Amino acid sequence: MAKKLWGGRFSKKTDPLVEEFTKSIQIDKTLAQYDCWGSILHINVLKKAKLLTPEEHEKLEKGLNAILKYIESDEFEKDPSLNDFEDIHSYIQNLIEKKVPGIALKLHTCRSRNDQVVFCTKLYSLDHIKVVQKFIMEVDKSLLKLAVDNAGVNIPGYTHLQHAMPINLFEYFYAYHEMLNRDLKRLSNIYKTINLTLGAGALAGTFIKSKEYNSAVKLLLLSKDKIPVKPTTSAIDTVSDRDFVIEILSAISILGLHLSRLSEDLIIWSTKEFDFIEIDESFCTGSSLMPQKRNPDVLELIRGYAGKLYGNLISVLVTMKGLPLTYNRDMQLDKEPLFNSFTIIQQELKVLSHLLLKIKFNETAIKKQLSDECLYATDISDFLVKNGVTFKEAHTIVGQLISYKLKHGISLLPENEMEKGITDEELKKFHPLLSIEVMKRIIDPYISVKNKKSLRRKLRIMTKEYIHHK
Ligand code: ARG
Repeated sequence: MAKKLWGGRFSKKTDPLVEEFTKSIQIDKTLAQYDCWGSILHINVLKKAKLLTPEEHEKLEKGLNAILKYIESDEFEKDPSLNDFEDIHSYIQNLIEKKVPGIALKLHTCRSRNDQVVFCTKLYSLDHIKVVQKFIMEVDKSLLKLAVDNAGVNIPGYTHLQHAMPINLFEYFYAYHEMLNRDLKRLSNIYKTINLTLGAGALAGTFIKSKEYNSAVKLLLLSKDKIPVKPTTSAIDTVSDRDFVIEILSAISILGLHLSRLSEDLIIWSTKEFDFIEIDESFCTGSSLMPQKRNPDVLELIRGYAGKLYGNLISVLVTMKGLPLTYNRDMQLDKEPLFNSFTIIQQELKVLSHLLLKIKFNETAIKKQLSDECLYATDISDFLVKNGVTFKEAHTIVGQLISYKLKHGISLLPENEMEKGITDEELKKFHPLLSIEVMKRIIDPYISVKNKKSLRRKLRIMTKEYIHHK
């Protein structure tokens, strides 16, 4: 194992088993660039506090910027010595010690990894929230396109996965647009509450005055965002806090849940039994044994990954539960689930935004299902209610009418190839206001959808949003 950030107190060498068991470099190497940024801020503070001369500061800054470049090129991943280090903080300290010998030994003044690790995990999180939001907007754009392109198509709506009432495809996809909007807001709120602080030290603060922290660093530029950086108001909380990790994992879990439900609907719609959609062949996979198969594996994995995302959330919740203040090594285990959830959700969003654009609707199969007259039972009851029948009475009348229709295998409309039609006399037995003419006006998916007036129809707004998006 390479040089540690500690060791003075120890007279024995660490057992290799302990080194292997405790190190986190293979996971926290993801934080490399964020650790450098944190160090660049920290040396500003050291200069302000006169713990570094301007010349020393300049040399360290140059060295750190060179390391940052090396890290951004991903070359460091090939460094054979990387895995000898305990964690990424130790590795970068070692790099700077080689680049700026002597002066680099001052870098860790008034700093602890306890503070450093939380600072750079927060930076990583802020950066990745933005990336996820960008990907969400891409999926939303695809949903809007599907919604607008299929705004004229109605499908049976389901409750309990049973035929309920006709709905418009536009409205179906709009539901997911709403969900994704909430996901975006949830992530924005988390972004706003992540507070970047300095000066926690190991747990008790440092001897550098807060005003020196304050004047040395005020803002950090992340992409195009200016993120405020302030001296901590509670060093104890700063090094103990992993709420932001839990909040992110929770927001990603909810987002993953939404994508999982959308996937499930699409999987069902693509079955032979439904046959509502065709998922483009380039987004399907085959079977090694059954030559005819075209499987929706992408959607199945999105559905399945929800389990991983929840597992990651639960893992950090359980790790944090009951930990005594302040930092404990258990907290090192927050990073794997955090990075894993960010990776999964980005992959899901990326593939989904493309898959959605290639979905084709099979209007013939959909129309066949829409001809199920039971879908219009509520519309018949609504007609009676609008004509003065009490709801309870109307519900019973239509229930009996549907039961009669099913029992005798007849249509509520004039005769067709499959069924005999009901007569006006039969209908009038249920209620004098009912007739074949009335039925013809009710049993129609377009009329049914149009008659649902409680919705603030957003087609126009959405079409505008879509065009704006383009
Ligand atoms: N690798 C550690 C982590 O991720 C860094 C902090 C270690 N601090 C300590 N005092 N042992 O949490």
